[in-house]
Amino acid sequence: MADHVRIHEVGPRDGLQNEPGVISVARKVALIDLLSRSGLRDIEVGSFVSPKWVPQMANSDQVLAGLTPQAGVRYAVLVPNMRGWEGFLAARRPDMITEIAVFISASEGFSQSNLNCSIAETVERLRPVVQAAKEAGVTVRGYVSCVTDCPFDGPTPPEEVAKAAAMLRELGPMQVSLGDTIGKGTPARVAAMLEAVLSVVPAADLAGHFHDTGGQALANIEASLDLGLRAFDTAVGGLGGCPYAPGAPGNVATEAVLALLARLGYETGVDADVIAQAADMARGMR
Ligand code: HMG
Ligand code: MG
Repeated sequence: MADHVRIHEVGPRDGLQNEPGVISVARKVALIDLLSRSGLRDIEVGSFVSPKWVPQMANSDQVLAGLTPQAGVRYAVLVPNMRGWEGFLAARRPDMITEIAVFISASEGFSQSNLNCSIAETVERLRPVVQAAKEAGVTVRGYVSCVTDCPFDGPTPPEEVAKAAAMLRELGPMQVSLGDTIGKGTPARVAAMLEAVLSVVPAADLAGHFHDTGGQALANIEASLDLGLRAFDTAVGGLGGCPYAPGAPGNVATEAVLALLARLGYETGVDADVIAQAADMARGMR
């Protein structure tokens, strides 16, 4: 049997958060509902963050309300603090599998820029969020940003990424997604970073999250596959970036990753034709 790779679609969140305008609820819902019929099992659909920081995600509660849930699809949202958790709880639907994603940075510069506090303070802010999720039976995913480079602090030492991943896992069990937020990583540097992280988190609990700014995302995915990773975050139509990471356009495109994985003999269970339709729709939102 072919080796399975799990694709975590982040276009509706990581992609659309970076668009200059706010995309309407109806257009977001149409995109997510189409994606949910492609065989994808994980779709990140919004954020319960401050609307002053990321106005593009301010309609995430209405997006959740408007979706037609598909069996077997898990719908994820970013939550930065207890206020975001409460927003999520109010919008959570009993007919839908939901997950929250918490996020920290491996570099202090990006932590300040993205979350307005230090890495250690972020972890303390997240502790009650992860506890509340555990009590409510909601699964948690964790992100570490700037795993190869930070737009403010320069190259990130691999041991800082391992430290950040371990801090997240100390909060509770979770898959950790490793974000090359500004897409400057190369296969050799990604491999060095992964070797450090693998000393604290097993490959089965890691995901690769590559932005394609430097055109290296597919090569970085291949380097990660070689080290045993079998989960990757992608954005349909190559939407994406981060509003607090200057120079970070473009998550790696879902359709390009599907083509790469098919060529390498991996199976994903995702229908490339439906993704191609969704990619057209996503490109129309730019
Ligand atoms: P702050 O200003 O330090 O927070 O922001 P605060 O607690 O002082 O609150 C300021 C105001 O925001 C208050 O309102 C709060 O009520 C409100 P005011 O009194 O001024 O009217 N507020 C909220 N409103 C709604 N929902 C909330 C919330 N929290 C506070 N949850 C904060 C701190 C964390 C809120 C802010 O920095 C923030 O929202 N940051 C999020 C930034 C973000 O979403 N970035 C993009 C996602 S990360 C990413 O893309 C990277 C990733 O893709 C991986 C990778 O590529 O590396 C995941
Ligand atoms: Mg990202």
